[in-house]
Amino acid sequence: MNSNLNQLHPYPFAKMSKLLANSTPAEQYEPIKLGIGEPKHQPPEFVLEVLKQNLAKVQHYPTTNGLPELRDCIATWLKQRFELNHIDANSQILPVMGTREAIFSFVQAVIDTPTPTTTSTAKPFVVMPNPFYQIYEGAALLAGAEPYFVPCNADNEFKGDYSSVPAEVWQRAQLVFVCSPNNPTGSVMQMQDWQDLIALSDEHDFIIASDECYSELYFDSAPVGLLQACAALQRDDYKNCVVFHSLSKRSNLPGLRSGFIAGDATLLAPYLQYRTYQGCAMPIHHQLASIAAWQDEEHVAHNRALYKEKFELWMQELGDLLQLRHPDAGFYFWVKAPKQFVDEHGEADDEAFVKALYEQANIHALAGRYLSRDVAGENAGKGYVRLALVASVDESREAISRIKQLLNS
Ligand SMILES: Cc1ncc(COP(=O)(O)O)c(C=O)c1O
Repeated sequence: MNSNLNQLHPYPFAKMSKLLANSTPAEQYEPIKLGIGEPKHQPPEFVLEVLKQNLAKVQHYPTTNGLPELRDCIATWLKQRFELNHIDANSQILPVMGTREAIFSFVQAVIDTPTPTTTSTAKPFVVMPNPFYQIYEGAALLAGAEPYFVPCNADNEFKGDYSSVPAEVWQRAQLVFVCSPNNPTGSVMQMQDWQDLIALSDEHDFIIASDECYSELYFDSAPVGLLQACAALQRDDYKNCVVFHSLSKRSNLPGLRSGFIAGDATLLAPYLQYRTYQGCAMPIHHQLASIAAWQDEEHVAHNRALYKEKFELWMQELGDLLQLRHPDAGFYFWVKAPKQFVDEHGEADDEAFVKALYEQANIHALAGRYLSRDVAGENAGKGYVRLALVASVDESREAISRIKQLLNS
């Protein structure tokens, strides 16, 4: 077996199951699931209709680079949404089956590990935020690279300070992950943050892989994306830059497995070849349904309005009691465990808080330390709990009332 497999951590939800193995949920209540970030709003009916009408397309093999019509409509969407000067649908866009598989396989395709003939035997670095979406780390480990973690904490507005990365790390860094809007912290990179990172990429020659799958779930202004920052610098070749987008969160279609990667054509051409061998092509009826979803903004605005209503409700009802920080975008609260839940050192205890939420309120949440790694004895997620506001408005009301009761008891 591939010995790198031994380096993989148990997934956060496996750690949660272990934590709660001997706990019983408050049985007087129905469960409210705020742990997993699976969208629960209704998918658009017109997209499902296209899917149904095209089921017979299963008779054909799809091509790896997808239908030209799909790439064209993604190009139109990207140009409009991110104010691009130009993007070539044939060489700068590739449909993928959701961002998760693409994030994973892109790393396998681009990371170049030392061979017996290379001078340095040191592993390359993949730089990533901490806490982070777990696939970044797993992809890096299985590609034979070493993760380097950039803490995202209150000192850097939960965005991570990439300028703090030491020169020795940059020398071996081949790829940097950014998650904006960030899961779990809810932070968003600003134009200047992107441009600073692009300057570092020019200096040290690394790829920037920007996971933007929450980009459409914003409250007031639309987050700036990496390609937008390139366009503002007139870098229409998007040198060393790629973005990942998805219909899962934007359109409540997590089961459609539809997204795309876009950016530097010199990276996408070999990656397309990699994918041809990997055998990951989106079924044609999913591609046709995706075209319908990317061409409509009304359902996305409606989706945003539902999240906005829930975040406003939580802020109004629990903003003070839980000291909630409204995310810049996305659908997560990244909450410090309240003062009733402290460990033996008097520090906020995320495990104790999620356990109490489960045992006393039958609310499922995720302990922040499970999304994070220890670096020099510090875990950037420790003390925080992630709440995914995916449940309905009514369930949100109910969750708020139970949490109030829990904190006041
Ligand atoms: C940060 C982040 N990236 C990527 C994904 C993968 O989404 P999908 O594969 O559905 O596009 C998720 C899903 O929760 C996520 O939270």
